[in-house]
Amino acid sequence: MDRFVIMGGKKLEGEVTISGAKNAAVAIIPAALLVEGTCTIENIPAINDVDVICNILGELGAKIQFKDERHTLVIDCSALHSYTASFESVQRMRASYYLIGALLGRFNHAVVAMPGGCNFGVRPIDQHIKAFEALGATVDTTSGIINASAEKLIAAHIFLDVVSVGATINAVLAAVRAEGVTVIENAAKEPHVVDFANFLNAMGARIKGAGTDTIKVTGVEKLSGGTYSIIPDQIEAGTFMIAAAATGGNVLVKNVIPKHMESLSSKLEEMGADVQEFDDSILVSRTKPLKKANVKTLPYPGFPTDLQPQIVALLAVAEGNSIVTESVWDNRFQYVEELRRLGAIINVDGRVAMVEGVEKLTGATVKATDLRAGASMVIAALVANGVTEVYNLKYIDRGYEDFEHKLQALGAQIVRKKNDGTSSEQELAL
Ligand code: EPZ
Repeated sequence: MDRFVIMGGKKLEGEVTISGAKNAAVAIIPAALLVEGTCTIENIPAINDVDVICNILGELGAKIQFKDERHTLVIDCSALHSYTASFESVQRMRASYYLIGALLGRFNHAVVAMPGGCNFGVRPIDQHIKAFEALGATVDTTSGIINASAEKLIAAHIFLDVVSVGATINAVLAAVRAEGVTVIENAAKEPHVVDFANFLNAMGARIKGAGTDTIKVTGVEKLSGGTYSIIPDQIEAGTFMIAAAATGGNVLVKNVIPKHMESLSSKLEEMGADVQEFDDSILVSRTKPLKKANVKTLPYPGFPTDLQPQIVALLAVAEGNSIVTESVWDNRFQYVEELRRLGAIINVDGRVAMVEGVEKLTGATVKATDLRAGASMVIAALVANGVTEVYNLKYIDRGYEDFEHKLQALGAQIVRKKNDGTSSEQELAL
């Protein structure tokens, strides 16, 4: 099993360029199934989740071509031959649930196994099913296979009981080619929801209100194809901003949309870091001691739950006690046990973690328990005294493009060690 070997204590300095957004890409690529033609999608992140979803589309009959070092994707869905996605491939990724809405919208039929993905406790899809049924589909979920079908999809008024990124996007996918005007209320407003809607509009859809809590979709007969460029990854950008603050560094995070980072930027300033915004970049630096802060995760524009593990790693070395409330997922503190191995003092009670700041962390062997927990381990290791080994890189590779090389370019002492003990880079100056 590959692992990162990290020597902590180096300030991160320099520039890093953010890749395309994972959570936009994994919604936009399945959305191409609605297009009877060719879509060219630019600024695609070169990450494993993109490979997984492209393989599934290939199995359904889509023609897939990567260009520009895998950052541009040309997808031709004019000759699809199936609306059944195989169990094996779907298991590997939560976002494969977007295949249901897309195939239902394209064929009035979708057969997709219940998706896998990170274990944050219960992850129901009742709101997705509610949306499909409102649009006239019958949804059967016997033996973990979602079989959704409809004579015809007819527009509806859908009120989502919870603010759900996935259910919002799936409702739009099924409504784009339905007959009439669908209204989705209490919709999620995340940047990737807006990017997904902009993609479909560029392909000929008629979606209004994405980014607000009411989305209106006027059904169209056909989508014709086109070219679209994906937004920068808000969570990758946040991960590097937090790493810069944690190491007391000075990092220009380039290719970001500062508006998307506001909740984090203000939290970092509250903790004593300096955050300077420019048109499409943010400079994060810190010279003063880190101060405690309370954090509550919320749907956008609130503090993103996908930056919660990373900010906890930062709070672990701040002066004072901080309270972190996870309001989106009911069980997203499993990684805390790993941070404790590095000397962090964190007490968890259900959805609340009390982080008691310590003066220093000490290198240890830890594992990533999911994608963002993996990033949290790396941030803590960059701060810790001595050497840390981080295992389970498969989680990190799912959502971070070229993570260790981007960190090395900022001066981090990090190498990836392969299972056979070889490493693709120079040895660490231990
Ligand atoms: C998306 O997951 C993201 N994944 C997650 O990021 C992110 O944590 C989450 O949104 C919240 O921001 C992708 O975009 C691929 P939700 P999703 O539906 O869509 C409840 C990462 O690290 N709910 O917004 O699955 C649910 O249990 C990943 O990149 C229902 O009750 O999340 C949760 O408490 C991890 N019924 C809340 O809503 C439903 O039918 C928000 O979930 C659907 C959701």
